[in-house]
Amino acid sequence: MNRQALSTEDRAARKRLAELAAGRGFSIHQDAVANLFIRRDGSNPSLPPVLIGSHLDSQPTGGRFDGALGTLSAFEVLEALEDAGVITERAVEVVSWTNEEGSRFSPGCMGSMAFVDVGDIAGWQDIRGVEGARFGDELAATLNALPEARVQPIGHSISAFVEVHIEQGPVLERAGVPIGIVTGVQGTKWLEITFTGEAAHAGTTPLEFRKDPLAAAITAIARLQQAVMPADPLARLTVGRMTVEPSSVNVIPSKVTFTIDIRHPEEDVLASIEARVIAECRASAEDHALDAHIEKRFDMAPGTFDAAIVDVIENACESLDIPRMKLVSGAFHDALFVSRVAPAAMIFVPCRDGISHNESEFVSSENIETGAKVLLQTALSLAQG
Ligand code: GLV
Ligand code: MN
Ligand code: MN
Ligand code: MN
Repeated sequence: MNRQALSTEDRAARKRLAELAAGRGFSIHQDAVANLFIRRDGSNPSLPPVLIGSHLDSQPTGGRFDGALGTLSAFEVLEALEDAGVITERAVEVVSWTNEEGSRFSPGCMGSMAFVDVGDIAGWQDIRGVEGARFGDELAATLNALPEARVQPIGHSISAFVEVHIEQGPVLERAGVPIGIVTGVQGTKWLEITFTGEAAHAGTTPLEFRKDPLAAAITAIARLQQAVMPADPLARLTVGRMTVEPSSVNVIPSKVTFTIDIRHPEEDVLASIEARVIAECRASAEDHALDAHIEKRFDMAPGTFDAAIVDVIENACESLDIPRMKLVSGAFHDALFVSRVAPAAMIFVPCRDGISHNESEFVSSENIETGAKVLLQTALSLAQG
């Protein structure tokens, strides 16, 4: 699966979802950051809607379920309400948030971030995607690709948000429990580090003449890998992308750019890991007589979901007689940004071997159905008054 944000493939998926919505007579709209909304009206138009959904974009080598499962489960809820002729008091809206993954354009969760703070969008226009495309251009092309979805002001009022998602880890499968009720999400920070040295001949340049940014990068990364995770079982540190220039077998590199993804459930520990990463990178650059440039790309503070929504999901499981357990998400999700403006929580379903951000990601039909049923019951409760 390669359906990265605002790509041709992403536009095709959005178009397909819009067609399905139109086929059922639901209204659709988008906002300035191309979040896509599908609405089934309630009996009381003065009440803000219940929002359910997730995202449609994927990693470049992603699975079929990360994001799409929650978006389509939410659409299935709308269809089930329609099929049963249920009249809810509040409208129920499905959302597909723009660029959750952040793999093509960084940061991630742009759609939900802008939904809670519209001021962010202006600063994103000139961001370049990994293949050089400009965010502003790809956003405009995506909005234009769906002329039937009128563009409405961003950040409309909602009464609650619930997101179904695959767990993306091994906890539920190991415990043999089909539903996770997510009580919060750990924090994430992304840094992009550029070491600039000097290209030189691989055969003729003695050690003391080398300004080798790759030698500096691997030293810093190795020190961080040895220090951060072994000392704290909750800490995560990942270097997922590195570019080496000019990338020739017999040229000492002139420039190395790499990303560091840091996660931790506690904000102060996350901040101290970030400080350590910055210090280690600067020290290694200095040892190699290099220029170091460090940019923060994404900052998502850890957060706790709304206890009342967690209870509504718990009651939905109880009424359906479905086993469940509470857990904290190791992956980041749009629901955490949305929780800043409305009560929110999430429903996790197990995935095979805990594997995600991988094309072999898999969720059984049975678990998908269970997740959708819990979402339906939850949305029904929230949509009454
Ligand atoms: C996003 O999908 C993440 O948690 O990395
Ligand atoms: Mn996701
Ligand atoms: Mn993901
Ligand atoms: Mn995610």
